[in-house]
Amino acid sequence: MSTRLGKTSRRPLVIANWKMNGSYHTNAELLAQFAPQWQGVHCAEVAICAPYIYLPQVVEVLSRSNIVVGAQDVSQFKLGAYTGEISGAMLVDVGCHYVIVGHSERRAYFAESNRIIAEKFMQAQAVGLVPIFCVGESLERREAGEALATIGAQLQAVIDMVGLGAFKQAVIAYEPVWAVGTGRIATPEQVEEMHGFIRAQLGSIGAGIRILYGGSVKPDNAAQTFALDDVDGALVGGAALQANTFYGICQAADL
Ligand code: 13P
Repeated sequence: MSTRLGKTSRRPLVIANWKMNGSYHTNAELLAQFAPQWQGVHCAEVAICAPYIYLPQVVEVLSRSNIVVGAQDVSQFKLGAYTGEISGAMLVDVGCHYVIVGHSERRAYFAESNRIIAEKFMQAQAVGLVPIFCVGESLERREAGEALATIGAQLQAVIDMVGLGAFKQAVIAYEPVWAVGTGRIATPEQVEEMHGFIRAQLGSIGAGIRILYGGSVKPDNAAQTFALDDVDGALVGGAALQANTFYGICQAADL
């Protein structure tokens, strides 16, 4: 288990995952409200992961802020004849720092296997992007008592391909599938158990790696989750689509 000292050495991080939402107009409005709120020096780091097509807009608007930009996915291939794909190098080219890899929606709706996700993780790091690697179990797996084993297997698939050391340049997000978009946040005990387990799987480098929680994080439940020893911030979906609610969550991490 990590100590308080371990936690204070990890900078809190709050990431917005806009998913497939937004337009030029609504993005501009949201950023015009949020960016001035999040000015100056902060303890917490904030990032926004926008749809591919709006990344240049978001990078441009945030270029004079301390808010970092990321993508929501990346191709598992480097370049070439892969119609419709976006490479890691392209994401770097438009100004991305982070990229989400292995989100449960990609696993469920786009049949992304542990192997494809590991390849995406590798492609992202090969060009200097920092992967936000998502893990999470379904309700079925949890109720069958297989939550830890599921997350262990998801982690191991990437460790097997890239090696444990690669996680020093990555962020992990624990997002239980049953908590994503449902309004049902995991309990502190469930989060504590899983984050402690993930950190233990990372062995000697675990204490230095940021592990975020995701799934129905809102301004009124963020502080209790962030107070847990092994929680280093959040990956936020629905509540990141409005400046005030996203700001409230960022403030809760900014202590
Ligand atoms: P919600 O915050 O809407 O539950 O979504 C979480 C998520 O999937 C972030 O990646």
